Amino acid sequence: SERTFIMVKPDGVTRGLVGEIISRFEKRGYKLVAIKSLVPSRQLAEQHYGDLRTRPFFKGLVNYITSGKAPVVAMVWEGRDVIRQSRAMIGATNPLEAVPGTIRHAFSISIGRNVIHGSDSFDSAEKEIGLWFGKPGDLVSWEPVNWNWIMAEN
Ligand code: GTP
Ligand code: MG
Repeated sequence: SERTFIMVKPDGVTRGLVGEIISRFEKRGYKLVAIKSLVPSRQLAEQHYGDLRTRPFFKGLVNYITSGKAPVVAMVWEGRDVIRQSRAMIGATNPLEAVPGTIRHAFSISIGRNVIHGSDSFDSAEKEIGLWFGKPGDLVSWEPVNWNWIMAEN
């Protein structure tokens, strides 16, 4: 089924939010198929945020993600409608506009330090998963007990 790329950003890692964020995805019913901790290279961060290359905050964004003050935790989550659902769980880019109950509302106060990334479409999910987990064997194929039943609509 559908997969998305989720990343706890360095501020989320250094503030000890990795467990909380993973827990929210697990409790929602999603399946973890890849996870790693790393300090991304400039090249990787620039490719990841390539669509924002011309924006005034681009350099600061790349500096923030690659600083090495803390690593990022990169993940792939799978399940029904996970791309749209995870964006809803994450909340608006600007924490000031994030709805109560969302991750960014609960854990952040700054648009430039907003704790978590999630792919915004099927195409960006495909691109980002390939970028961060592009080697054979990077994604684990497995089925939780009663997976299809849990994902059913009726
Ligand atoms: P991601 O999940 O990280 O991709 O965030 P998003 O999809 O909610 O927003 P978008 O892709 O438009 O921007 C990527 C990241 O750039 C955001 O998460 C912010 O950290 C940063 N960003 C976006 N807009 C602004 C802005 O106006 N000012 C600043 N300082 N940072 C911004
Ligand atoms: Mg985005």
